[in-house]
Amino acid sequence: MSRALSGQPANEQPPAPPVLPEGPWVTLTSASNTAFAGPWGVSFTANLTPDKETGLGKWSERNFIDTIRTGRHLGRGREILPPMPIGVYRQMTDNDLASIFAYLQTLPPISNKVPEPLPPASAAAH
Ligand code: HEM
Repeated sequence: MSRALSGQPANEQPPAPPVLPEGPWVTLTSASNTAFAGPWGVSFTANLTPDKETGLGKWSERNFIDTIRTGRHLGRGREILPPMPIGVYRQMTDNDLASIFAYLQTLPPISNKVPEPLPPASAAAH
């Protein structure tokens, strides 16, 4: 619980990307529930705590709303990968998103630099 919402722990070796099974399987989830392998490669849950260097500490409410609405980091950067349910969350009202952001900013800041996602080739090469 002390790590709550701080994302894939930087000091833990992420699990080796699994070989994805044939057939209509989409996602494999690590036991920590912070790493997800699928056709997009491997994504790691973000640090949503208000740490200034590794979390959302320097984000404004606008940055947060833009990220969720566009599905891109800060509204203009890299596309946010699955399984983050952007297609669902982007339909929330500004008021809902502002409330979620306000809550996240009340969390204790946790310094944790989440690793970059791994491209699909890495998942397949394992
Ligand atoms: C209200 C609930 C949620 C909020 C407020 C939230 C917020 C965010 C934000 C703001 C980012 C982007 C961070 C950035 O661009 O730096 C993100 C990324 C991510 N989220 Fe969520 N999220 C929520 C629920 C979920 C759920 C339910 C899942 C998984 C089932 C999930 C998985 C992920 C993953 C894997 C990433 C990293 C994607 C990437 O690196 O491209 N999130 N989340």
